[in-house]
Amino acid sequence: MQRPIYMDHHATTPVEPRVLAAMLPYFTDVFGNAASKDHDFGYQASQAVERARAQVAALINARPDEIIFTSGATEANNLALFGVAERYADKGDHIITCVTEHKAVLDAAKRLEYLGKRVTYLRVDQYGCIDLDEVRAAITPKTILISIMAANNEIGTLAPLADIGRIAREHGVLFHTDATQAAGYIPIDVHQQQIDLLSLSAHKMYGPKGIGALYVRRSNPRVRLAPMIYGGGHERGLRSGTLNVPGIVGFGMAAEIARREMATLAPQYRAWTTRLFAGLQERIEGVALNGHPTERLPHNLNVYIPQIESRAFIAGLHDLAIATGSACTSASVEPSHVIMALGFGEERAHGSLRFGVGRTNTSDQIEVAISIVAERVAKLRALLAR
Ligand SMILES: Cc1ncc(COP(=O)(O)O)c(C=O)c1O
Repeated sequence: MQRPIYMDHHATTPVEPRVLAAMLPYFTDVFGNAASKDHDFGYQASQAVERARAQVAALINARPDEIIFTSGATEANNLALFGVAERYADKGDHIITCVTEHKAVLDAAKRLEYLGKRVTYLRVDQYGCIDLDEVRAAITPKTILISIMAANNEIGTLAPLADIGRIAREHGVLFHTDATQAAGYIPIDVHQQQIDLLSLSAHKMYGPKGIGALYVRRSNPRVRLAPMIYGGGHERGLRSGTLNVPGIVGFGMAAEIARREMATLAPQYRAWTTRLFAGLQERIEGVALNGHPTERLPHNLNVYIPQIESRAFIAGLHDLAIATGSACTSASVEPSHVIMALGFGEERAHGSLRFGVGRTNTSDQIEVAISIVAERVAKLRALLAR
């Protein structure tokens, strides 16, 4: 069995071989600039980009011309928040989001506050769920945007997208969702769920790093954005810069594979995370689930293990790659803002582990992971008891 075992698929995923194969010609043979369509080199590159745009759009039931390629979900989130705040400044200055969002939304929201906008940060309950009545109550005549993530990157809790979409639409407010962790794992339909803006990242779905997209609704309503990056007017003027053609091609292939294989992979992932939790519960006293028991990502498991300090715990695990919380904030030793928001206190935030299963795993690895974690907990607890 391959060691170490990788179970951190929320941080990133390896590029799938079919994705890599699709990308390779675009580094060498078909290297044209997709904006230089006067010759065949550029024309072929631009054709490949448009095919990928359609593949990405299909994953969320959008139109190809509603997909704006970005460098990833961080940029897509920033474009959504800053783009709406600037473009709709004459309509209002208020944004609603949630305390458990990814930093790419929270820090953008904080910056908007600094620039004079107003932001409401909705609280969550012990499962990480927002209260729809609080969403309704937070809306004012000056509200221009609701930004709520589709699935939490730490605890996997899913948001009721269709309900939020309906509330936003009823009040004439735009609805953005950061679907970085959800897309390719659970079905998303921007029409049925009335989503106006949606952020995606290729490297969370077995595509390459450094490429993502923002879906921007073009009708009912037509969403307008101010760009953040100015230049040659690429991507309908919303995101200038020479397109990352190999990255886009890889993203397209990753989205297509995810769309086709989601229905078979998701139950497999669900079975693994269910077994992982049951196995940990059998062997470790006091293990508790973080996040919602059923409304959660199939491939996520986040548990609290009393008496462990998760950073030190993980540092001592040589055969298993898991996480304490969000990789993007792992530079800080602050307790996870997501687990803190659940209201159980600092000890729980410092004693939680995140598992993210994926294509690289096998059923045998799930059993080995249970043993690795259980044995280390037993060892640490024995030391504490001395
Ligand atoms: C929910 C969520 N949003 C945004 C991001 C940032 O994505 P990217 O790495 O594409 O910038 C991540 C990645 O960790 C994420 O999990």
